Amino acid sequence: MSTEKSFLSFVVLLLLCLPFGSTAPSRPTASSDNIYYLSLGDSFAAGVKPIAPNETITPAYSYADALYELLLLKKDYNNLKLIKYGCSGATSDDIVSLDKCNQENPKYSQLDQVINFMKSNRGLVKFVTINIGVNDFHRYRNDKDIDGCFSKILKNISNNLTDIIIPKLKEAGGEGVRYAASTYFQRSTNDLDDLLVKIYSENGFRVADIRSVFGTNGDPAEFKRRVCLYTNSCNKHNNSHPNVEGSRAIGSEYDKELGPFD
Ligand SMILES: *[C@@H]1O[C@H](CO)[C@@H](O)[C@H](O)[C@H]1NC(C)=O
Ligand SMILES: *[C@@H]1O[C@H](CO)[C@@H](O)[C@H](O)[C@H]1NC(C)=O
Ligand SMILES: *[C@@H]1O[C@H](CO)[C@@H](O)[C@H](O)[C@H]1NC(C)=O
Ligand SMILES: *[C@@H]1O[C@H](CO)[C@@H](O)[C@H](O)[C@H]1NC(C)=O
Repeated sequence: MSTEKSFLSFVVLLLLCLPFGSTAPSRPTASSDNIYYLSLGDSFAAGVKPIAPNETITPAYSYADALYELLLLKKDYNNLKLIKYGCSGATSDDIVSLDKCNQENPKYSQLDQVINFMKSNRGLVKFVTINIGVNDFHRYRNDKDIDGCFSKILKNISNNLTDIIIPKLKEAGGEGVRYAASTYFQRSTNDLDDLLVKIYSENGFRVADIRSVFGTNGDPAEFKRRVCLYTNSCNKHNNSHPNVEGSRAIGSEYDKELGPFD
């Protein structure tokens, strides 16, 4: 159906923007003088910066960096450190079992790294955010039967989040952690985004539904204006990832959801 077709072209577009010039994320070791915000996810969490035609740098400034800047300003969080685990191209099952950005040990998944960090630094992790799901569709990009697979892919994303990712994060982090997650923003990802909002909110995560940032389901002209403002889709880079302005707008949406703060 047409929504699904346009979803697929969006997915292909994201894929084309992926793995040029990637560098290993920096993952500092803990110090008990600090408290931590851990960010998991895909290219939106990692950040993607276009630098030339078909050439991008990742990791780069993302909503995680923007949210971190906002959190640092609050009382009690001036010793907060951000650790970004996000990896461009990650799928929901990668979160569980693979980290292609972890060159030394690709089998040490984002989820396992975060769980181990929380377990060995009890009480020091204050915030965990995640966004994941859209890349689960990439592996079907050449599949003529994408329409038939669509609901099965959603089901698998749902299972991965509900049965594995969310309960393991909550078990490892305990009561002292504020968890938040976000959606995507394209009209073509509405079904996925509705599902993500439902799953996260039913499981005690705050949700930054960033469709409100982009006005996804409102006036089409306004939506287009915001896509041009908040991504590099409309300039010479033709890259659909959030730019610095978009990252700040998304980070601010997370900040609102994570509150109240003293
Ligand atoms: C932008 O990139 C997409 C996907 O690579 C391509 O289909 C489209 O033609 C490009 N648009 C422009 C204006 O270059
Ligand atoms: C960018 O990639 C697209 C799709 O692979 C290709 O058609 C286009 O020629 C490339 N542009 C440049 C400047 O390399
Ligand atoms: C969903 O998960 C099942 C079980 O691992 C797998 O067999 C199936 O191929 C997956 N479906 C899709 C559409 O990825
Ligand atoms: C997670 O997603 C992968 C890929 O779609 C699938 O093979 C696997 O079965 C899913 N896990 C669960 C618990 O459904």
